[in-house]
Amino acid sequence: MTLLCAPVKELQPSNKVDLQEVDHGTHKMLHGKDCYVDIDWKTKTLPTGKVIVSYHNYDETPDLEAVLQMLKEAHPQAHFYKIATMACSTLDSLRMLKFLQSHPNIIGLCMGDLGMLTRICAPVFQVPLMYAPLHEEDKNAPGQLLASQLCEIYHFRSLNSETKILGLIGDPVYRSIGHLFHNDIFRTQKRNAVYVKMNIKPEELSEFFSSIKNLPFAGLSVTAPLKETVIPFIDEIDPNAKAIGAVNTLAFRKGKIYGYNTDGDAALDVLGDVRNKTLVVLGAGGAAKAIIYTAIKRHCNVVIVNRTPEKAEELAHFMGCKWSAIVPPYDILVNTTSASMPIDAREILPGKIIMDVAVYETEFLKEAQRKGCVVINGFPMFFQQALAQQAIWEHRREGGH
Ligand code: ATR
Repeated sequence: MTLLCAPVKELQPSNKVDLQEVDHGTHKMLHGKDCYVDIDWKTKTLPTGKVIVSYHNYDETPDLEAVLQMLKEAHPQAHFYKIATMACSTLDSLRMLKFLQSHPNIIGLCMGDLGMLTRICAPVFQVPLMYAPLHEEDKNAPGQLLASQLCEIYHFRSLNSETKILGLIGDPVYRSIGHLFHNDIFRTQKRNAVYVKMNIKPEELSEFFSSIKNLPFAGLSVTAPLKETVIPFIDEIDPNAKAIGAVNTLAFRKGKIYGYNTDGDAALDVLGDVRNKTLVVLGAGGAAKAIIYTAIKRHCNVVIVNRTPEKAEELAHFMGCKWSAIVPPYDILVNTTSASMPIDAREILPGKIIMDVAVYETEFLKEAQRKGCVVINGFPMFFQQALAQQAIWEHRREGGH
């Protein structure tokens, strides 16, 4: 069990955390279920009581074994060793989790936004203590989540060494609401799992997949710009995802990585009957491919329009549909690009069905609203595709396997 400790200015009554940490200048005192003194590892003499010997590195995550060795040599009689380092990438955080996996009882965490997953997953790696302020103004390290966020969004109190980790990879991931949706499902269905967002760039993918080997990951959502670049790392790709040429869901089973795509069906289910209608798709990335492929399968006339026309042409050739350098007449217009307004606003035609896959209010949809179009934002599609991901992770949908 991981105890929660809140940094506070003064001790206060609270049942949200187990310990409260008060700064005394040269050391910190932790009061609550137990009592500890937290000192910097460079302090020469240890105070009496249960001592936490702390190492902080606000610049990077260095060799963690070497840091631990250094702390042990400096203070062999510490009660706990605490290692807090800056995550310069998600890979640093995964390195921290690997380190914690082989060193239970170390208070280890990565600071910064990219280190949040180490704070959330602390109970999975039997970290004895994690810091989480009660209020925004009490935050005393970068990347800290409030105790209420840890407990209410990530059900921190019910995580344990059996918990499976799932998550989102992509760049950026901050706009995604996946952590809210998936964790809510895990909680209501009483599944021992937690979902975390991880910023991963295409050039980090190879190291990412080697890093998560032997960590308790059960599955991933994949977002831009990784939906295509992730494919070479997959052992078995679902025939639909293969035909689409993009993957948005990974499942890890018995040492193998399975890849699926839940975007296309989700978008088309939301759009309803598209048979014989003209659908203009803006963009030629992973989301576009899924929607185009599924729309063609449902007998819709698809035209691709993209900022880089060559990509539209190439994709149209691959999918067997049309492309255009300008926006042609349409019944339905879908924006799959990350641009808030990817076309001239005049090309949004009154009375048409206008959809954006984004889960924030884009200029594109605002203009459609002004023109009295049938406006569909990215939320219904998000929920549909996320439910399908849940089914895959729960083995309720096995795809082609
Ligand atoms: P996803 O996998 O979510 O579909 P992606 O693979 O990054 O995301 O695809 C992004 C698509 O949006 C591309 O087609 C891109 O156009 P280019 O092919 O010209 O790169 C398009 N896109 C991104 N930003 C855009 C912008 N500001 N205006 C217009 N199109 C944009």
